[in-house]
Amino acid sequence: MNGSFLLPVMASLLALAGCLGVPEALWVLGPAALLALTAAPARAEEMDLRSALSPDAEAVLDASPDACIVLTKDGLVLWANTAARDQFGLFAAGNPFSFTMRVPELIRAVELVGRTGRSERARWSEKVPTSLWFEAYIAPCRLGGGGPDAHEATIVFVRDLTEQQRLHRMREDFVANASHELRTPLAALTGFIETLQGPAKDDAKAREQFLGIMQTQAERMKRLTDALLSLSRIEMRAHVRPSDLVDASSTVRAVVELARPQANEADVALELNIVDEPLRIRGDADELVQLFDNLIENAIKYGGDGGRVIVSAACEPSGSGMMAVISVQDFGRGIAPEHVPRLTERFYRVDVEASRAKQGTGLGLAIVKHIVARHRGRLNVRSELGAGTTFTVRIPMDQA
Ligand SMILES: Nc1ncnc2c1ncn2[C@@H]1O[C@H](COP(=O)(O)OP(=O)(O)O)[C@@H](O)[C@H]1O
Ligand SMILES: [Mg+2]
Repeated sequence: MNGSFLLPVMASLLALAGCLGVPEALWVLGPAALLALTAAPARAEEMDLRSALSPDAEAVLDASPDACIVLTKDGLVLWANTAARDQFGLFAAGNPFSFTMRVPELIRAVELVGRTGRSERARWSEKVPTSLWFEAYIAPCRLGGGGPDAHEATIVFVRDLTEQQRLHRMREDFVANASHELRTPLAALTGFIETLQGPAKDDAKAREQFLGIMQTQAERMKRLTDALLSLSRIEMRAHVRPSDLVDASSTVRAVVELARPQANEADVALELNIVDEPLRIRGDADELVQLFDNLIENAIKYGGDGGRVIVSAACEPSGSGMMAVISVQDFGRGIAPEHVPRLTERFYRVDVEASRAKQGTGLGLAIVKHIVARHRGRLNVRSELGAGTTFTVRIPMDQA
């Protein structure tokens, strides 16, 4: 920025400050105005404090994954570690802390620590550009040891709580979703029990009809609790790599045969395209059956209107070894691109009613994702609206 440009800018800043009042102008114009209107140069004696932080102390604080900023008692920056600069940007020595950290909760806490000499905590979140959560610990400290050169300072540690918060949210959402899914059939069951005990007590026809509905609802609850248990068992073993030798191609063949009656009923031709030789992988046979069963069942249920489902199994080279590649392709209505990344989330369904009508729980693909991960594999979804969907699983083959 050259001088001829800077002058009118400064003039207009000052004019605006005059019109709005200084605090409003600062709010509107941001850091540039703060710098232009309020920055007093840091006092030399305060700048000297920087040397009070020994190289050893700097090295230790720099190794911290948490952001750490050392300030004068009055809130001027003395030093910031790498994590602080990576996370929040430049902390110029001598500048007020608030130039970089424009967080009212935090600035208030820093002032309070400077005034009272007692530690404080502050928590805040940011919504843009993405949701972020932070917590800061602010404590008074003395720099330069106990000697005559010692100075009061303030140290700020900022911890990024975003990941922790995300997991917390996920757990809360999961419990809320699972309870909701269980409560709906449970409410239906209780309703029918009351009706059978009261108004429909002696109505044989109604009793017959209601018992049928109650059985459907009870089965729905059972499917859901089975899926939840299955998910939690797989999660519990997530870090234990399966050790049995399993032939993926014969497992796929067996699952296809099990699914045949369902395919026939839905008028879907189930085609097999499987290599002759075994595809040996280190796997958990029960989990692999669940994995292929979920994908084939989905293809019949949601892609069955295409009339064909092709299940293939082959091997392909990858890096230093070989991969077993199993894919399930349907020619149904396909999945819109915005849904694809979310399909493996628990309880995520493109069409909740369609899934319920087809006895879905919304947990199938979440289970698939976990099984694939436990087998150190990869899951890929390719879908085109109106043309169909292909789910492909790649699992490393046993080297021996
Ligand atoms: N082959 C497919 N074609 C179209 N949509 C699919 C296919 N597979 C899965 N889906 C969609 O993904 C959702 C989630 O699948 P899943 O986790 O197995 O749950 P569920 O089958 O219990 O509904 C399904 O409800 C459906 O909307
Ligand atoms: Mg399913």
